[in-house]
Amino acid sequence: MVKPYVFITRKLPDEIIAPLKEYAEVTMWPYEDVAVSREVLLEEATKADALLTMLSEQIDGEVMEAGKSLKVVANLAVGFDNIDVSLATEKGIAICNTPDVLTDTTADLTFALLLAAARRMVEAAEFIKSGEWKSWSPFLLAGTDVHHKTIGIVGMGKIGQAVAKRAAGFDMNILYHNRSRNEQAEAQLGAVYCSFSELLQQSDFIVCLTPLTKETRHLFNRSAFQMMKRSAIFINASRGAVVDEDALYEALVQQEIAGAGLDVFTKEPIDPSHPLLSLKNVVALPHIGSASVETRCNMMELCCQNILAVLKGETPKTLVNK
Ligand code: DGY
Repeated sequence: MVKPYVFITRKLPDEIIAPLKEYAEVTMWPYEDVAVSREVLLEEATKADALLTMLSEQIDGEVMEAGKSLKVVANLAVGFDNIDVSLATEKGIAICNTPDVLTDTTADLTFALLLAAARRMVEAAEFIKSGEWKSWSPFLLAGTDVHHKTIGIVGMGKIGQAVAKRAAGFDMNILYHNRSRNEQAEAQLGAVYCSFSELLQQSDFIVCLTPLTKETRHLFNRSAFQMMKRSAIFINASRGAVVDEDALYEALVQQEIAGAGLDVFTKEPIDPSHPLLSLKNVVALPHIGSASVETRCNMMELCCQNILAVLKGETPKTLVNK
């Protein structure tokens, strides 16, 4: 029997893909740090029964048209805005993501970003390493408190709820805005549902965790930033395009808000000369929300399990198109 063909768009550890190799012929893009070229992706798609993809690849009509025998795309991320899911559904291609296994790791990073921005940790680390520390002084690199402040979480899914749990440990008041009420977060963590504009006006820390969709693109625009407190700190750990980055830059430069912590950008990798990166009150990270070794390995294993399930005619664990 001819084995099914799987293409993996980045180099992953051999031991993780071993179960896949027992069942299928597997080819991997040979580099860990370089994205697969579009040309190679399209060429591989023509042969593939399954693709294991990264969020850096656009899985659109062109790829699906090339992939005549494509049955499943397993994306190494909980987000799947890089995939045309409705087209895939029309074509009978299963789309799988990696929820749950990354919830706590991503919440840890999101809260770390909030703490780093509030307490100016990156600025302070650069200050000491560049030999600028001349004397202890009362307001040297003084930031703002996190404990007992108000956090406003936009997108109260599993990661939002895990961030709220961490916020509760810091005695914060928790506000949230979401498409639907999260009764568990309300009952267990005292989270209070409010409108988007109320949340913007009342929060000291606004944390964006909503997925990127047609409705949320540029949700954080000029008028949203103008509604925030001048002391507010904006954190984004979802997708860059949920934010109008020009509006964010303007709000920071005009001191309409106090700072930002950003793990995601509209264009990734962001250009090092991007104006946002020139600001001292911006803590910027290279999209590492779920990047612990344990979690990334769990995500890879889940992708392999999902691919195997579809190839064997079973229901994958985490199917996006239901
Ligand atoms: C995701 O899983 O969508 C994250 O953004 C990847 O770190």
